[in-house]
This record gives sequence, structure tokens and C-alpha cells, in this order.
Amino acid sequence: MTSDECATDGGTDGLNEVEAMDKEYVFGTWSYQKEVSPTEMVDSEGVYFTDARGERRLDFSGQLMCANLGYSADRVADAMAEQARRGPYFAPSMTTENRARLGKHLADITPGELSKTFFSTSGTEAVEAAIKIARLYTGKHKIVSRYRSYHGATYGSISVTGDPRRLMAEPGIPGTIKAPDPYAYGSTLDPMESLEYIGEMLMLEGDTVAAVLVEPVVGSNGILVPPKEYLPRLKEIAHDHGALLIADEVMAGFGRTGEWFGCDVFDVAPDIMTMAKGLTGAYAPLGATVVTGEIAAHFEENMFCHGHTYAGHPVAVAAGRAAVETYIEDDLIDHARSVGDYLGDRLDELAEDHPSVGETRGVGLFRGVELTKRSDRREPFGHRKDKISTGKTVVDEVSGEAWDDGVYLANMINTLIIAPPLVISEDEIDEAVAVLDDALRHSDRAMEA
Ligand SMILES: Cc1ncc(COP(=O)(O)O)c(C=O)c1O
Repeated sequence: MTSDECATDGGTDGLNEVEAMDKEYVFGTWSYQKEVSPTEMVDSEGVYFTDARGERRLDFSGQLMCANLGYSADRVADAMAEQARRGPYFAPSMTTENRARLGKHLADITPGELSKTFFSTSGTEAVEAAIKIARLYTGKHKIVSRYRSYHGATYGSISVTGDPRRLMAEPGIPGTIKAPDPYAYGSTLDPMESLEYIGEMLMLEGDTVAAVLVEPVVGSNGILVPPKEYLPRLKEIAHDHGALLIADEVMAGFGRTGEWFGCDVFDVAPDIMTMAKGLTGAYAPLGATVVTGEIAAHFEENMFCHGHTYAGHPVAVAAGRAAVETYIEDDLIDHARSVGDYLGDRLDELAEDHPSVGETRGVGLFRGVELTKRSDRREPFGHRKDKISTGKTVVDEVSGEAWDDGVYLANMINTLIIAPPLVISEDEIDEAVAVLDDALRHSDRAMEA
């Protein structure tokens, strides 16, 4: 699959007028343009969306793992409309009640001493701000991140990204160093050994590293959940070498893991946290970089040399505030935890029935199904290079079969990514699992003898 981390309807024939116009005039992201085949969407409700042909699909991946509130969060839509009418835009030097209250909400729901926020409009901007803040605060410039990671498309963020999309942006910004990952199923390194190796890297760099940047649970690079003690120890290692810990919660945050943030699964509080996606439940583009009081205090006497025209855009922060209040009032974090356990059980059943399922893993409503063509050797169908090459892999074909049968299922490289809206019910999980069960027959047939 070459377009985003997502499934498409699998062909370029039969486009309607809107789709053909879109294909002609608008770039498809992360794609060979000849393969782009946009499907016109016209409606949505609950965990379903409907295309212009009247086909309704269950969203089993929350679009790009961001539609955490599903499609019927009227409170968020109303808050945006009200703010757009009262004042669609004010410069960042002015404020609105929504911006102030959202800042306070984030201080309340984030772990540890995280307390002050810079607002931007996307995950990649949240990461850019984190890199800049870490550099300004520590006076050092190197950033250690991991190979199996995605942190965004702009130059700083793609430079610290490990996944193959970085290769086309190289050489990128200076001072980025990649470390191994906690990937028990597919790496030769044991997760905890890979962690101690990061300590060695920091030592060998002579304590010149500003920050270690990780996704607490790796998202688009395969839903990799580290051992419980990994993140607390990583924070210790970073601090021992004078580096900050930055947690990129853009995908893992806002209930995805059954906790507010991925860090909460491991009881660790980072020095800087980045977020976007679920921050508004995908109702508006909004990114946030939250720092500890100590880091914030540094910028009292040192310039916070960063900003955007749309930093804290009034309509986006109205969406953010209403989204956070919806998570709280509708008890969505607890709901995600309980239906997440159910989802995990249902996927484990699939693994028993399908020899091409190498491993299921994840936490809460953040799950991965990794496929294999030779389970005795854990040999994958798809490889990292497929992410930037043309054509379809077996995992794309499984997503395509599910799409044809009414379920949207994102994938990346060799893993199906299951991250439905947090409002999903057990019945809806059953409906999607039944479709996935059928689709996996395709990968079973494609296995090597
Ligand atoms: C962990 C992580 N960080 C950053 C980003 C970049 O976010 P955006 O696409 O909003 O720029 C993503 C996007 O998938 C992500 O998963």
C-alpha cells in the first residue's frame, strides 16, 4: 500500500465526476499519482461513513487513527460553529475562553508536571515545536529517536522519523540519530536490550543529546507495545545523560490505549508531550506541545522563539475543548479500556483460526495484526521498502477485501492497524471482526507451503 496508511477501494476505474476531478487537480498524499483513486464521501454517523454510491462502511481504523469520537459528536460540531460565528479568528497574541480552558484541561489530564501548552495545527508541527523547545531549553541540538517510528512530514519531524518515508527527505536536519526499537516479534534485539543500547548511544555521544523522542506505543510502524518497565527506564537513562524525554502521543493519546495517554499505561511522565489527532477527535486540525513547569519557566527570561499564524486557532481550540469535555462526560476512556479488552480477545480468536496471522498485539483500542507467509520463520509478506514502492502487497489486498465487504481497515507495511472510534460497541466490533475473518482467508491462501 502506498497511499497513507490506508486502504482504498483498490482501483482507478469507475471514478465519478467528483473523484475524477479530484484526481486530476489534487495530489494524493504519499502516493504514486497513477495509483491514486479517491472515493467521494458524503455522509457519516456513529462509527460508519457513507460514500457517494451509498455504500456504508464501518470505520475500524478511525480514518488515520484520529477519528476517536466517531462521527456524531454534535457537541464538538456545535462548539466549532458557535466560535466561527462569534469570532472565526484572532491573532495568537489575543485569546478566547476556549483556548485558556483547553490549556487548563491539558494540564489537568496529562501526567506529572506537564502544565503549559503551545498550540499548532498538526502532529508534525507539535513535534517541530518539541524539537525546538528541547534544543532551546538544553542548549544541545541532537535528537535520538527510533527506526520504527513516524513523527510527521515536515523537515524536522521527517528527519527524526525512522520509517522509510524519511529516506526520500534525506539528508534532513542535522543532529538526528536513530536507535533500535522494542519489537519482540520482528527484531533480533530483545526490547530491554535495545533500551540499554540507547543508554550506550547517549554515553558515546558524550551527553550532547537534547532529547530522546519516542512514541510510547508505536503506531503506524506496527503497534509496538514496549514492556511495562521500558519507558520509566528510558526516562531514567535520558535524564542520566542530561537529555529530555519527549513522548509523541499524536496517535496513542486521547483514550486510544484505554488511558488518556500512552504514557499512562506505563506510569511515566515525560518532559515534553506532543499530541494532535484525537485532541479534537479529528473534527479540526489542532496540534499541541505540552511541557513541564520547569521547562516553561525557562522561557520567562529566554525567548520562546516559535509561532504560527494559526497557533491556537479559535475554531480549532473550540473543537479541542469540546472534545476533551466529551471524552470526560461520556466516560470514553473507561469505555475504550473495556471494549478494547473485548477487541483484543476477538483478534486473538482470529489468530487461532488463521495461520497467516503471525501475531496480534496492542492495548485498548490500539491493536495490530501482523501477517506472515511462513509462521515458523516469522517471515513477513510486506517489507519496509514496500512503503515507498509501487504496487500492492498481501496486506493491502486484505484491506481491499475488507473494504469491499464494508469495513475500512488501515495497514502499514505488514500489519493491519485496528484503531476504531472510541464510541464503538461490542456488536460493532463483532461486525468488523466477521469481515476481517473472511478477508484473512486471502492471506492464508497466499502463504508459502
Ligand atoms: C506518532 C505520530 N506523530 C506525528 C504524526 C504527524 O501528524 P500529522 O499527520 O498530523 O502531521 C503522526 C501521524 O500519523 C503520528 O502518528
